[in-house]
Amino acid sequence: MNLGRGINFGNALDALDGGPRLPLEHRYFDEVAAAGFATVRLPARWSAHAAATPPYTIDPAFFRRVDAGVAAALDHGLRVVLNVHHYDGICAAPDEHRPRFLALWRQIAAHYAGHDNRLCFELLNEPRGELTADRWNAVLAEALAVVREACPERTVIIGSAEMNSPAALPALAVPDDDHLVATVHYYAPFEFTHQNAGWVAGAERWLGRTWGSPADEDAVRADLAKVAAWGRDRRLPIFIGEFGAFSAADMVSRARWTAFVRTEAERLGLSWAYWEFGTDFGAFDPESATWREPLRRALLGV
Ligand code: GLC
Repeated sequence: MNLGRGINFGNALDALDGGPRLPLEHRYFDEVAAAGFATVRLPARWSAHAAATPPYTIDPAFFRRVDAGVAAALDHGLRVVLNVHHYDGICAAPDEHRPRFLALWRQIAAHYAGHDNRLCFELLNEPRGELTADRWNAVLAEALAVVREACPERTVIIGSAEMNSPAALPALAVPDDDHLVATVHYYAPFEFTHQNAGWVAGAERWLGRTWGSPADEDAVRADLAKVAAWGRDRRLPIFIGEFGAFSAADMVSRARWTAFVRTEAERLGLSWAYWEFGTDFGAFDPESATWREPLRRALLGV
């Protein structure tokens, strides 16, 4: 499946305590569909809404919140990428959390079995830490098998280790399956995209970094060309599931970087989803209920 142009409803169903928060309002789906996006990625923090002990039951109230988001997207003719986001336990202690991770997917897959095939699953956002490439390859194969019990043909998105970095793509073991898409996240140069980001130690030192020299462009071109070549070799569609520059960077550089990454991705046939809709990277300003025009134009070109 080609996911086309997408946007993340980040910090909604995945919000962390004390962090930014986006209420998942129906009118935001109107905005996204009317602007011309084809896909929304719905990050969801299932691990914060499921029991800690077997059978690790997911809170029905959380299922209802996710259901509302999925239904709103489908009603607007959008494709949906539903993931497992911010599951820190599986990254810190994979052996201990593996049964719970698989149980989450068993429940999610059963719950959405028979749903519209525009709903796609993404197994895990940004594997990292102790969940090294080798361990992740094993866990992802198991999770995919669990999903396939209830959803034999649903598109499933699998990402590289090391926080979905493009550099870790060669270490990704791709299971034999006809309905896979591979994903990476693109935040390079990190010192530009994450300047002054509160959750990155030392990021205040990067404040004022701009982007747009010919060397900057060459670096993006080279990175994305490698990603595209990897996908071509394996006949796998590639989805850049997150890319974006934090609001502390200057808008001229943010828009330039966003437009360049987006057009380069499209030239190479890669689908993408901007991080994110309406909080700290926001392409949309919920206060004024308007798009930030430079970012909207960078993403959609019109
Ligand atoms: C990842 C994190 C999210 C963060 C984003 C940009 O998706 O899970 O919390 O805002 O990357 O750094």
